[in-house]
Amino acid sequence: AAANIGVVGLAVMGSNLARNLASREGNTVAIYNRTPAKTEELVGAHPEAGFVSTATYEEFAASLVKPRAAIIMVKAGAGTDAVIDALVNVFEPGDIIVDGGNALFTDTIRREKAVRATGINYVGMGVSGGEEGALLGPSIMPGGSDESWVTLGPILKSIAAVAEGEPCVTHVGHDGAGHFVKMVHNGIEYADMQLIAEAYDLIRRGTGRTPAEIAEVFAEWNRGELESYLIEITAEVLRQVDASTGTPLVDIILDQAGAKGTGAWTVQTALDLGVPVSGIAEATFARSLSSHPEQRSVSRDLPGPQDDLTVDDVDAFIEDVRLALFASKIVAYSQGFDEIRAGAAQYGWSIDLGAVSKIWRGGCIIRAQFLNRIADAYAETPDLPVLLTAPYFVEALGRAQDAWRRIVSTAATAGLPSPAFSSSLAYYDGLRADRLPAALIQGQRDFFGAHTYKRIDKEGTFHTLWSGDRTEIEAEDTH
Ligand code: 6PG
Repeated sequence: AAANIGVVGLAVMGSNLARNLASREGNTVAIYNRTPAKTEELVGAHPEAGFVSTATYEEFAASLVKPRAAIIMVKAGAGTDAVIDALVNVFEPGDIIVDGGNALFTDTIRREKAVRATGINYVGMGVSGGEEGALLGPSIMPGGSDESWVTLGPILKSIAAVAEGEPCVTHVGHDGAGHFVKMVHNGIEYADMQLIAEAYDLIRRGTGRTPAEIAEVFAEWNRGELESYLIEITAEVLRQVDASTGTPLVDIILDQAGAKGTGAWTVQTALDLGVPVSGIAEATFARSLSSHPEQRSVSRDLPGPQDDLTVDDVDAFIEDVRLALFASKIVAYSQGFDEIRAGAAQYGWSIDLGAVSKIWRGGCIIRAQFLNRIADAYAETPDLPVLLTAPYFVEALGRAQDAWRRIVSTAATAGLPSPAFSSSLAYYDGLRADRLPAALIQGQRDFFGAHTYKRIDKEGTFHTLWSGDRTEIEAEDTH
């Protein structure tokens, strides 16, 4: 036994993670792939890594020092279960099996329970940063037992991205906590991407600027409070010209967004938890809407407003869009952190929200300057019920809200879809409201279903005899 860590599954993410591990002082990496040719290919291409190449699970287990630790990097789904079964056969109590794929956290909870019964540790681990992150330093979100963190902690710290001197990895919480947090990361990623896309679309349609010119706007924004990886790569994508046609690439790419499911999981889970992640939901649905050409083609001639968007003061309009983007982004993160808090309460995890915001500062897709402000907010008030009520965000929203409202109303008047901008604003105003029309909904529910209501002026649960003499009686609480 010579290796302190193993990797199973050597597609792009697995091989890049294995190379990252091997490049760090103190690590020796055992590798295994179902097709042995892949293993040999990686060994051949990277002799400097000093991989311990193995051809069977028995050999793989024998090559690892105890407690053994292996990271599975295979496509999420049934393949993961097959690899887990194979590893459980050759591992011993105290060893550690890590799933580094984008597994659904409820699968991770199920698998952790089953594997724990054998005495082996099972860790569901979120890894963000794409191919390059896996190779050079991802943001890592492990769940699982405290015992497994003792062994894994130093190894993961050695490969994680570093933000302001701190490695972007923390033990998020037990069993499925790591995959839950990675899921919400992806939900925020969806919202962030949709908001950027809406900003681009409004500027393009409102000002007639070319993609290359709008790239400069994003590059400029990336030097301010919006500084982030997604803004940076947006400028890169907008600058790209298609080699075969000489047209901006963004005009050649089919406008139907794909999705592998993590955004939908975030929304489904939020619905179950009763957490309003409306910005994330709109971003997910916007991808769905884009991907129905049969619906879009029969809808093209639906009536719209008479006039196109006209902008008089282009610079002021672009600044309004920037502020609308910033405000909506605050909402997206606030909603995402709300979901993590609710998930932690539901599943019994103790998740340090400040620590989560810190490990997202580097390596991951949603890395942004702004995460420092989130870390500050939780450092000041760890149990903050609504992130956007922290002083920094209140100030930012105060600065942005007029512009945000102008942009949402301008977009609506001109018939330009801005689902994430407008739903974020509606959420914000919903939170702010003294009274909500939820009172009327309670009245309606009581009318047709005797679902009862509470009163603002006294304790108890009440029902009006709607089909009788319409007097009010005290009733059992039925919610
Ligand atoms: C990351 C990403 C990654 C995700 C892709 C694709 O954090 O590195 O979130 O895990 O799989 O971004 O996601 P969609 O195909 O759903 O857009």
